[in-house]
Amino acid sequence: MDNLKDTEVQTLVQAEEQRQIHMIGLIASENNCSDEVHGVLSSCLNGKYAEGYPGRRYYEGNQLIDEIENLARDRIKALFDVPYVNVQPYSGSPANTAIYFALMNPGDTLMGLKLATGGHLTHGHPDVTFSGRYFNSVQFGVDKDARIDFAEVRRLAVEHKPKVIVAGTTAYPFVLDFKQFRDIADEVGALLVADISHITGLVVGGLHPSPVPYADVIMSTTHKTFRGPRGAMILVTERGLARDPKLGSKIDSAIIPGLQGGPHNATTAGIAIAAHEAAQPEFKTYIAQIRTNADALASALMDKGITLVGGGTDNHLMVIDLTPFGPGLGTQVAYALDVAGMYANRNTVPDEPGSPFFPSGLRIGTPLVTTRGMRETEMQQIADWISQVVAHTTKQQLPTDKTERTAFIKAFKAQADTDETLLAIRKEVTAVASSFPLFKA
Ligand SMILES: Cc1ncc(COP(=O)(O)O)c(C=O)c1O
Repeated sequence: MDNLKDTEVQTLVQAEEQRQIHMIGLIASENNCSDEVHGVLSSCLNGKYAEGYPGRRYYEGNQLIDEIENLARDRIKALFDVPYVNVQPYSGSPANTAIYFALMNPGDTLMGLKLATGGHLTHGHPDVTFSGRYFNSVQFGVDKDARIDFAEVRRLAVEHKPKVIVAGTTAYPFVLDFKQFRDIADEVGALLVADISHITGLVVGGLHPSPVPYADVIMSTTHKTFRGPRGAMILVTERGLARDPKLGSKIDSAIIPGLQGGPHNATTAGIAIAAHEAAQPEFKTYIAQIRTNADALASALMDKGITLVGGGTDNHLMVIDLTPFGPGLGTQVAYALDVAGMYANRNTVPDEPGSPFFPSGLRIGTPLVTTRGMRETEMQQIADWISQVVAHTTKQQLPTDKTERTAFIKAFKAQADTDETLLAIRKEVTAVASSFPLFKA
């Protein structure tokens, strides 16, 4: 068998593992799951077909898969105190698509937060997405303090009478006020969908208000702060079922036959394990540390003169606003940070003066570094490294002439790759990162 081994892929995977070990991951949506979850993802469950639901599959041999899926559903129901759960969505985007398929018809009105101010593509981003093209998408934004502008949400809801309002965020550092969303939804007869993909862990850990008393339907990915396998779950609340007793079966049918075929059973088992882990006291400690680290990182950055969108964070992430250094600098700073051993993602800021490809912000979060066991001391150090990279790389301004930008970035990258200051920071980062295993907390 040895000569059949695919060393090409193995080598790449091993190199990726080394990259992760030696660098500091600051992407707010990334995390590492436990060894137990990792293990089940490569188990025999991967090969089994189980189209349908427990007790009603289209394939034989699913007695044990049924038990696993029931266990996953029961654990999630208990964790969130909801009467209905579907753990089959392949990921967050298909899960949101399934919810829309279950609740709306093409052309119905969908309301969500604009991508540029922290919403997700699937929340109705116009023109280029399924949610923006198949529904009449109405988008709200944030106020001058970078908080959701509920006056605008209400005004738009009253004007457009949406069928669904999505309360959900992907790059929003503050608490989501589900009650205000509920009041507005009730005023116009809309269904309220809470997309808590980013904050599930905080909700479970008691550090973010739960949407369960307010939303009709809740969606979450399972791989972010929840720290499970890459997947998603859809929950229907008591309130949702009281409003429409068929809501659960509508969601089930939207997943299969509506959108998907066989569920990813290994992921289902991983979700069951992650739910068990999230119910342990250690998970609360982990989530509390995510928040402590986020506060420490935010304060240290601001102490160094870095501006944060909205002035800080109430959750696990923050958005660095680079506009004081010039417009559209997020792309070059993100690249330079990567050279310096820390990876994050460029992000738009409210009233973005740049463009989606050249935005003026940087989103960073603490779930992954906290999982690796980093604490406040390391947050101070990370803030110091980030501020050095920002100071070093924002002197070069992005050309205002758009036709010059591609060549500018190409030259910037080539220069950054061998930049002595960045490589010196990388040495320090690597020394610290290497002493924190990928999963510790
Ligand atoms: C709020 C929110 N919803 C949905 C998604 C989509 O999840 P996925 O990338 O798993 O499709 C994300 C992912 O970033 C998200 O942040």
